[in-house]
Amino acid sequence: MKIDILTVLPELLESPFSHSILKRAREKGLLEINVHHLRKWAVNEYGQVDDYQYGGGAGMVMMPEPLANAIESLSGITPYDEIIFMTPDGEKFQQKMANQLSLKNNFLIICGHYKGIDERIRQQYVTREISIGDYVLSGGELPAAILVDAIGRLLPGVLNDETSALFDSFQDNLLAPPVYTRPADFRGSRVPDILLSGDPKKIDDWRLEQSLKRTNERRPDLDTNE
Ligand code: ADE
Repeated sequence: MKIDILTVLPELLESPFSHSILKRAREKGLLEINVHHLRKWAVNEYGQVDDYQYGGGAGMVMMPEPLANAIESLSGITPYDEIIFMTPDGEKFQQKMANQLSLKNNFLIICGHYKGIDERIRQQYVTREISIGDYVLSGGELPAAILVDAIGRLLPGVLNDETSALFDSFQDNLLAPPVYTRPADFRGSRVPDILLSGDPKKIDDWRLEQSLKRTNERRPDLDTNE
């Protein structure tokens, strides 16, 4: 999978993809991530990429020319399956969407800033608008990092134990069961006996029961039959 990211703050995206699982995915050649500085396509020598909004009002808007030129130039190199704009008024990001997107090959992700991007870019180029939740961040970089992390870890061969993503919270609309490690007795609080029983069937049953209980208590809105 190849992911290109267009941003005015490339520094914000240096660390999230350089550690742990995503670092390994890149090293193994399973995931290519390229961060592109939008100023490369600025309209003038001052690096301008934003301007005042028509109709007045506080806050700058990202101009259409730099974005269109960047998108056209990058699309000429990579045929994108989706051109994604991270925005609080987009479709809400969920595990199911991460699963679907992990089956595609190439994305361009546009990170907005200031008041947003000129509406004509959304209409003419963007194929998908995604929000990571009902709150407003100062830019699309952290949302983009979250999207890439959630998708990247699902790519075949990325996780050491290939089956482990199947048991994540939200797969099957269930929250994950509690987990324990050594010691078996931590300051008088013991690991449930069943996990020490060595009986895989009993352990599986217990985990499912705990998942259902947790989901019922914490997220009754999740439909476990879906
Ligand atoms: N940009 C700012 N806030 C955002 C959010 N909640 N989701 C996606 N992009 C954003």
